[in-house]
Amino acid sequence: MPILAPETGTLIMQRVEELALISESNVGLTRRFATPEHRRANQLATQWMELAGMHVHEDAIGNVIGRYEGDEPLAPAIMLGSHLDTVVMAGKYDGMLGVLSGLACVEYLAANNRRLPYAIEVIGFADEEGVRYQSTFLGSRALTGELDTAMLELTDKDGISMSDALVAFGKDPSQLPTAIREPGSLAAFIEVHIEQGPVLEQQELGVGVVSAIAGATRMIATITGEAGHAGTVPMSLRRDALAAAAECILVIERLCSGPADLVGTVGRIVADPGAGNVISGQTEFSIDIRAADDSRRLQAVAEVVRELKKLCANRQLQIHIEEVHNAGSVECDTGLRRHIGDAVASCGLRTLELTSGAGHDTMVMAHIAPAGLIFVRCAGGISHNPAESIMASDAALGAEVMMQTVLNFSQQ
Ligand code: HGY
Ligand code: MN
Ligand code: MN
Repeated sequence: MPILAPETGTLIMQRVEELALISESNVGLTRRFATPEHRRANQLATQWMELAGMHVHEDAIGNVIGRYEGDEPLAPAIMLGSHLDTVVMAGKYDGMLGVLSGLACVEYLAANNRRLPYAIEVIGFADEEGVRYQSTFLGSRALTGELDTAMLELTDKDGISMSDALVAFGKDPSQLPTAIREPGSLAAFIEVHIEQGPVLEQQELGVGVVSAIAGATRMIATITGEAGHAGTVPMSLRRDALAAAAECILVIERLCSGPADLVGTVGRIVADPGAGNVISGQTEFSIDIRAADDSRRLQAVAEVVRELKKLCANRQLQIHIEEVHNAGSVECDTGLRRHIGDAVASCGLRTLELTSGAGHDTMVMAHIAPAGLIFVRCAGGISHNPAESIMASDAALGAEVMMQTVLNFSQQ
């Protein structure tokens, strides 16, 4: 018998739609860190959290955090949540589903006047995707104390530094350390997230238990050649940065097309000066390399860097490759995996454990608390795409499994 109210799934889907209207663009959903749209999403989440009886605050990086007290005021909290920022032209569920699932759990506790031996905190992280500053997990890393203050100098595509963006967002960058959570203040972190892959759908399961999250390396490569006239410079005399980048992209694809768990992606490229009749003098592109096995990922990164440098040297071009993110793979907490598995079983479902190729705040929060991740089926495994979709019944199931996991954990 489900614990949460029967209308939970419908309510989550309605709130997903409300949040999806808060976009920087009138074509699709884009909501980046420390933008007016981030502010509006935090305000909406704050309203919902306060109506659920939570005390809500926003920390120094812009995470929105609701707290529902337990029956022991100083007890550590169980934190539930995910991120409220999105990629460009995003799906509506990536991140938001986890925040709304945590909210649904607290709404149940408040409606039934239940107090647990732990406080329950629900968090909407300010930045997980890293779209604005190309450096992911700003929200969760602020809690774990892993934010490098040098990042405050990073600039976005409009030349606005992270420091200036935070000030415009109403924050004082010097206060970032106040967001750090004291060791022991969190008993557990539990996230619900869409799978962003095809396994649950193939297995005809609405939810799954994540065993481990793949590590990732993100880099930015800048190739410098010589701008020139498209009509007059003979092909043999060109130092074309964009043509070299194109060759690099195919090298990355080839080098990462071996082992099944290794993937390599170039998702963003900017060719300057960007005119059709000008040979590109400088081209910048992103490199994202991931694998469940860290040594395999690091070996692939080293091979890619070596081959790109060789390729550019042969073309008499310079290449600068800057690493902007490097996270090792993370095993989810075995105790929480068991509690989540028990919760799935109590919903009458087969328990399937699977790994995550996508990164999640869970992998950062695991640095300061036992962390668990519940996957929810999404249609065709499609994500980072406006076609991302889930069923209301699976939204309800994800929240139900989260609630039962919290209760299992509290009774241990
Ligand atoms: O890139 C990722 O894995 C996640 O969507 N931020
Ligand atoms: Mn994402
Ligand atoms: Mn996500």
